[in-house]
Order: sequence, then C-alpha cells, then structure tokens
Amino acid sequence: MKIVFLGPPGAGKGTQAMVISRELGIPHISTGDIFRQNIKNETPLGVAAKKFIDEGRLVPDDLTLDLVNDRLAAADCKNGYLLDGFPRTLPQAEALDEKVALDYAVNVDVAHDHLIDRLSGRRVCPECGASYHITTLDGAQECAVCGNLLIQRDDDKPETIRKRLEVYEAQTRALIDFYRDKGILVDIDGARSVQEVRADILAALGSDAK
Ligand code: AP5
Repeated sequence: MKIVFLGPPGAGKGTQAMVISRELGIPHISTGDIFRQNIKNETPLGVAAKKFIDEGRLVPDDLTLDLVNDRLAAADCKNGYLLDGFPRTLPQAEALDEKVALDYAVNVDVAHDHLIDRLSGRRVCPECGASYHITTLDGAQECAVCGNLLIQRDDDKPETIRKRLEVYEAQTRALIDFYRDKGILVDIDGARSVQEVRADILAALGSDAK
C-alpha cells in the first residue's frame, strides 16, 4: 500500500504514521525526520536544510525531491510505504504522481488554535522520533519507547509555529484538492483522541488492525 499523510503542522501525522505503518508492515518515511537526522549529523543536506526549517519555511523542492527519490528506491519500499510530510507543494505532488500510483492520501485536519497548543507543548524523542505532549507526560522526561531524554524541537517556538501554519495555508493546503480530484482523498477529523483518529484512519484504509 502506498499512502501519503497530509495535514497541517501538529495535526498528528507523525503520531499516527509511526503506529499505522508498523501495523500495515510498510516503512514510515517522514521527510521532517530525515532532514532533522541530517542536521544532527551535519551532512551537506542538513546544513542546506537547517536555515529553512529554523525559519519555518519549506526546504526547496529540488533538495526534497532528491531525498525522497533516493529513499523510495530502497529495497524496503518495494511493497509500499507511508509518506509523512511529503508532498507539501504542488510541484512535489506532481513529481510523485509521475513516478507512483498512490492508493490513499489521508488528510488529517485540526483547527489552528488546537495546533498551536499541541506544538508548543510537544516533546519528541531525538532517537526514535516518538512524539509526546507535556499534558500527558506527567512529568516524565524520557521516551517511553527507547528511554532517551525528550527534547523540544527548535521549530516548536511560537513565532516559528505561526510561520509554519502560514506556509501550510499558502503552499500545502492546495494538495487536498489535488488528491480529491484524483479520487484517493480520505478526510479525517484529527481533533479527537489519538485512538479515535487511528481507528478512523485504519477503517478508511480498509484494515482490520485497531
Ligand atoms: P515535519 O517534521 O514534517 O513537521 P510538520 O509537518 O510541521 O508536522 P509536525 O511534525 O510538526 O506535526 P505532526 O502532524 O507530525 O504532529 P505530531 O504527531 O507530532 O517538518 C518539519 C520541517 O521540515 C518543515 O517545516 C519544513 O521546513 C521541512 N520539511 C519537511 N518535509 C518537507 C517537504 N516535503 N518539503 C519541504 N520542506 C519539508 O503531534 C503534534 C503534537 O500533538 C504532539 O505533542 C502529539 O503528542 C499531540 N497529538 C497528536 N495527536 C493528538 C490527538 N489526537 N489529540 C491530542 N494531541 C495529539
């Protein structure tokens, strides 16, 4: 199964993609995670991407497309994948469309005021990518999955969050209609519990896994 997850920053794409990809037995490919890994390792791609990410802007399409094309050529993508945070612009969506026939585009939507709360309270594991919120951590500072110390992402500062939401509206929201016109869009209300959102997505994908 080849799936893309759409939705604004903080909608819960990463939270859901991590579990659903495992249940479906396909790799979870998050362009944001790959950029952050490259920034951490100070690779040329990481150095180039950092200034865009720190400012809440999108990394240019040519850099992003090279990265995704390389990743999709890997052996573990043979039977499908779940793309989280890609595509994010019409040129990215068109380039992907030329190469692969997607099964579903899952659009997880949440109102902006909730997103600001979610992102400003988010804590993430820099090792495994698990995502938490301070309201449910109960004071815990370590990742429940791998035990590493949780951090706040650099781009989860209030002014960068606002910029990311503006960029989403200006450059990414149009993809909803792109995929609706292709007949593969699934709309999911992301403003409910993690479990309810997951059950809805799995039902829409035709999976019995819950
Ligand atoms: P990326 O890492 O993709 O960030 P994003 O799209 O902004 O999405 P987030 O990771 O912020 O949110 P999410 O929807 O995954 O939410 P999460 O599950 O964590 O990209 C970062 C940057 O990289 C971009 O700004 C850009 O610069 C660059 N980039 C990446 N891809 C690119 C591309 N294709 N082209 C160009 N540039 C690109 O949840 C958020 C919080 O809410 C957490 O605290 C979580 O615990 C909580 N939560 C989740 N679900 C629920 C729920 N149902 N109820 C209550 N709380 C919930």
